[in-house]
Amino acid sequence: MKLLAGVPGWTVNADVIVIGSGVAGLTTALNLRANNLSVLLVTKARIDAGSTKWAQGGIAAALGPGDTPDQHKKDTLIAGAGLCDSEAVDILVTEGPEAVRKLIARGAVFDKSDTGEIALTREGGHLRNRILHAGGDATGAEVSRALLAAVQGDDGIEVIENALAIDVLKNAEGRVCGATIHVIGAGSRDGVGRALARAVVIATGGLGQVYSQTTNPSVSTGDGVALALRAGAKIADVEFIQFHPTVLWRELSESGQQPLISEAVRGEGGVLVNIKGERFMQGKHPQADLAPRDIVAKEIFRQMAETNSPHVWLDARKIADFKERFPTIYASCISNGIDPTTEMIPVSPASHYASGGVLVNMVGETSVPGLYACGETACTGAHGANRLASNSLLEGLVFGTRISGDIAAHVPPQTQPVEISTDSNSNFLLDPAIKSELQSTMSKGAGVMRSKESLEETLRVLEKLSKKASTTPCIEAWEISNLYLLAVAIVHAALERTESRGSHWRSDFPTTSANWSKRIIQSYSNTGKWELETVEVK
Ligand code: SIN
Repeated sequence: MKLLAGVPGWTVNADVIVIGSGVAGLTTALNLRANNLSVLLVTKARIDAGSTKWAQGGIAAALGPGDTPDQHKKDTLIAGAGLCDSEAVDILVTEGPEAVRKLIARGAVFDKSDTGEIALTREGGHLRNRILHAGGDATGAEVSRALLAAVQGDDGIEVIENALAIDVLKNAEGRVCGATIHVIGAGSRDGVGRALARAVVIATGGLGQVYSQTTNPSVSTGDGVALALRAGAKIADVEFIQFHPTVLWRELSESGQQPLISEAVRGEGGVLVNIKGERFMQGKHPQADLAPRDIVAKEIFRQMAETNSPHVWLDARKIADFKERFPTIYASCISNGIDPTTEMIPVSPASHYASGGVLVNMVGETSVPGLYACGETACTGAHGANRLASNSLLEGLVFGTRISGDIAAHVPPQTQPVEISTDSNSNFLLDPAIKSELQSTMSKGAGVMRSKESLEETLRVLEKLSKKASTTPCIEAWEISNLYLLAVAIVHAALERTESRGSHWRSDFPTTSANWSKRIIQSYSNTGKWELETVEVK
C-alpha cells in the first residue's frame, strides 16, 4: 500500500537520504559526512521547523560529580516501567556523555553555574541533577542552531526544504534504494520526484498531531512512522504516548500546539496544587512533584476529575529568578495573560512524545533492508513504557552516530528501483477535512485514560473516517493519511494491552500485570492488513 501521488518528474542522487532536520536527522547527516558519504537532507517545512527547537528542559547525561551512567540507567529503567530494552538503555547512558561532548565541540553552548561548570538541573524521574540546558529553557533551539550551522557549512549535504517524503522506493530484492518526495518549490525540483540512494534514514520526529492538544508543532504528523509501516517495517510500543503533565491550559476549545511548561520548573522548586489550593503529589510518590512523568500526568488527571476542573495549578512563585531562568516560559505565560512570578500557572496534560515508533536494532536498522530510523520516529526500546525526561535529544545524538557508522561500514552500492504503481486502486489517500474529528476522537477515546469501550468506539469512528477518500494528492491529504494509519496502530495496541503500565492507562485494567512484560509489535501489509505480535522484553 502506498499513498496516492503523481508520477515522479525529476531524480536526484546521494549516498544516503536523511528525512528530517531535528537533532536525530542533523546528527546522522553530520556523522555520515564524517564517513565521507554524501547526504540529501529532506525536510517537510523550513529546516528549523521541527520539534527539536521547541525542547525546553534539556539533555540528560551523567556528567555531574558523583553521577554515573549506571545511576542514569537505573532512573531510565524505573521510568520505563519494566519495558525498557536493557541493551538500548546501556548504550544511551554510556555513550551519552561522549555524544554531548561532541555536540559541545560542534559549537553548542550550555548554561554554566557561577563556578563556570556546566549547570545541571533535575527533572521528573531523575534522582540526580543531570540535565544540561541552554538559554535557560531554550535547549532545543541551541542544539538546533549549532547542528544547523555545521550542516549548512558542509557542501556534501544537499538540503531540500518544503519536501515531504511520500513513500520509499525498493529494488528488485526488496531493499530500500530511495524515496518519492514532493517538493513545493520552483524550477527543476517542483512536485513529485525520485531521490535515489544506498540507504534511507527516517528522522521525522513525533506524531503529536494525532491528538487535539499537543506540545508538538504542526509538522509532527508521524510521516516517518507511517512511511515505514507502508514500506513493510515493524513498529513497536506505540500505545505508550507520553502526556506531558504541565502544558499551559488556555481554553478547552484550543487545539494544535500548546505552550509547554518544562519539568525543570518543578526541578527548580515549582509545585503542583489543585484548584482548592492543596498540594497533591506529596505521599503519592517518593519523588512527589518530581515523580516520573506518567505518574504526575495521571495524578493531575485524577485531580482534575475529582475537582471537576479543566486544569490544576503550577505554583512557581518562589523561584526568585524565574524570568531569567525560564525566559521562553515567562514570555509565553505573559502573552497568555499570566505573570508566573506573581500568579499560579494553569496547567493540564497534553500529548508530548511517542515512546514507541519504528522498531530498530542497536544501529538503527528497521526490519526492512536499507531503511533506518532515528530519534522519536524510532523505537530502540530505550524508553520502554514511558520515556525519562530529557532522554530524547540524547537518543538522537547517540543513535545518529551509530547509524552513520553502520551505513558506512555495511551498506552496499546504490541499486535501481523497480517501477512504482500510480494506480489509484492500489494506493490510498484520505480527505484532509477529517483531521479535527480524527484528533478529537483520539483525544476522547485513546488519550491519557482509555478503556475497551472508549477504544472500540474510537476504532469505529476511525473506520468511518477511512471511507472519506480523496483523489487530490497534496500535503494535507498525505499528512492526514499518515495520521490515520498511526491512530489505528495506537488504538490496536492500546486495546491489546489489557493492563495499565507507564503512559498507557486503562480504566478497566487499572493495575500492571506480570503477564504483560511484553512489547506489542505491529506491521501493515501491502494489501492493507494489520498484523500484531507480542514479544518478551529483552
Ligand atoms: C520538559 O522540558 O519538560 C520536556 C523535556 C522532555 O520532554 O524530555
